[in-house]
Amino acid sequence: MSKKFLTAVAGMVLAVGLTACGGNSSASGGGNSGSDKITVGFAQVGAESGWRTANTKSVQESAKEAGIDLKFSDAQQKQENQIKAIRSYIQQKVDVIAFSPVVETGWDAVLLEAKRANIPVILTDRAVDSQDTSLYKTFLGSDFIEEGKKAGEWLVKDSEGKSQVNVVELQGTTGAAPAIDRQKGFADVIKSAPQIKVIASQTGDFTRSGGKQVMEAFLKSNPKIDVVYAHNDDMGLGAIEAIEAAGKKPGVDIKIITVDAVHDGMQALADGKINYIVECNPLLGPQLMDLAKKVVKGEQVPQRVVTEETTFTQEQAKTELPNRKY
Ligand code: AHR
Repeated sequence: MSKKFLTAVAGMVLAVGLTACGGNSSASGGGNSGSDKITVGFAQVGAESGWRTANTKSVQESAKEAGIDLKFSDAQQKQENQIKAIRSYIQQKVDVIAFSPVVETGWDAVLLEAKRANIPVILTDRAVDSQDTSLYKTFLGSDFIEEGKKAGEWLVKDSEGKSQVNVVELQGTTGAAPAIDRQKGFADVIKSAPQIKVIASQTGDFTRSGGKQVMEAFLKSNPKIDVVYAHNDDMGLGAIEAIEAAGKKPGVDIKIITVDAVHDGMQALADGKINYIVECNPLLGPQLMDLAKKVVKGEQVPQRVVTEETTFTQEQAKTELPNRKY
């Protein structure tokens, strides 16, 4: 989704609720229109993280509960696989196509094919960068820029009175909306504290092994690292392994900020190995199924639905951990 467009519709953004307020409204022309059961084709990014596993479970369970026939595919973090899956859903004439784009760009052609087949598309979790907003009905997911800002705000406060704070950044998948936006939000906020310096920034592809590998290289080439900013918990957990293997104490010698708040991340936060987590909610299934039903009926849906999220300190993690659902 173009950033300009996002700004323009900011006034229309709804938190969580799905009250009709705009957007496109044509009914689906999918091949199951004769039967009552809606078929949704869902093209998932992959299984790269604890967040993704929780998201997949939420989508699959919610489809079952909503009586929706779900066709599911795992793209193994490859755009070409997602495009193939979407084309196959078009051929199968599903009622709705939902997907979480691996990367932001390069979707217009396949989305145009879906539009011409009169199959509505719902973006979930991640946005696409396209000028043509008629290619999808709605985008349900987090505000990743805001997440990056929250991470930066914690660090600015924690760095007060310090002379130099060296940060290494573990980026998510190159070209993915959460990697681009979490980097941007963080960078915008830390500008106000010139003692904070991002001394290295590299992708760990949102995986634990990627985070570990990149952190090992960072530790070898940078003698003084004060903070790790990881775009997700899994990369942060990989970084913890690398820090411990280098004989340092994560959370103490090197502070760690991550995004997601999945169970393993929250455990590390409660144990003092991570210092702060910005939540990214993966439980999008119920809202996605509601939206799918609405677009099939031809009802209007909001063009943007933002999920509600919070942040966690070490103390808050200890209280929250027993209630954590994922
Ligand atoms: O798009 C959401 C991001 O993708 C999550 O933060 C990350 O863990 C996942 O892989």
